[in-house]
Amino acid sequence: MNELKNYINEKKSFIDNYLKNSFNISDDSVLRESADYSTNNSNSKRLRAILILTVIENSGIDWKKYIGLASSIEYLQTATLIHDDLPCMDNSDMRRGKASNHKKFSENISVLTGDFLFSYTFYNILKESEIIKMPYETIVRINTVLFNSLNRIIAGQTEELNFRGNNITEKQIIKIIQDKTACFIEACLVTGGIISGLDDKQIKYLSDFGIYFGTAYQISDDIIDIIGSEKIEGKKPGTDKRNHLCTLPGKFGKKKALNSLKKYIHLAGNSLEKLTIKKEMLNNLLYFATEERLKKYS
Ligand code: IPE
Ligand code: MG
Ligand code: MG
Repeated sequence: MNELKNYINEKKSFIDNYLKNSFNISDDSVLRESADYSTNNSNSKRLRAILILTVIENSGIDWKKYIGLASSIEYLQTATLIHDDLPCMDNSDMRRGKASNHKKFSENISVLTGDFLFSYTFYNILKESEIIKMPYETIVRINTVLFNSLNRIIAGQTEELNFRGNNITEKQIIKIIQDKTACFIEACLVTGGIISGLDDKQIKYLSDFGIYFGTAYQISDDIIDIIGSEKIEGKKPGTDKRNHLCTLPGKFGKKKALNSLKKYIHLAGNSLEKLTIKKEMLNNLLYFATEERLKKYS
């Protein structure tokens, strides 16, 4: 367990350090200040950037060369969260242990900061790709994967809005989860696979692993929204119920959600088995993002 903590902390410190130097805020722009406020937060797990770097490292490639590129993904993640917290969306006052962006700044600045960070993500990926002289084909492939996943995140957020307060089936909930959350985890793993030059079969196993991992991750998150503590999570529990959101534990109970969680962890494990790269750490990260989070409450 300590080995996993050390592993995460090492990767996280490189990522945090890279992101710390992102924006030139000496120009006194409130937009830069706001982007910096939400991007640089020691409470962020940096899970997505760590997943990219883990696939690269486990494929036997020098992961440190890709710190800038992998960290760029955290701008995109931060942008989705800033917009997700807005009053017109989940209306969440807290994020990562501090006031959410619109509480610290204002709604209009938060909309613009999210826009800025979406654009900055792709600008920075291209900048970093050039610095490390990444082949043109690889650049196109990873940007395509990331653009597609961003489109799917937006679709998922829209589907979730449409279902608010309405009847929904388990299958429909899983579809929303896979669109709004799992596809981005998938995209990070696939990005790592493409950078590492893995073949199409291996990328497909990574993609399956990512979708199951991300599904299990969001189910855990939804259970935590019911049983979790503000102090541990850095965000207020009860948000889903307040917003009449359709989650598995909210609609079908905690027991069913826990069974579903087990199912997706199992499916993720099956996909991982088929991978030929080193996979112990990917399995550990799956545990870290799901069961270990829930253990704090048992
Ligand atoms: C956020 O999902 C998903 C995206 C931002 C795309 P949630 O709304 O369920 O996550 P939290 O609880 O605010 O972190
Ligand atoms: Mg939401
Ligand atoms: Mg939310």
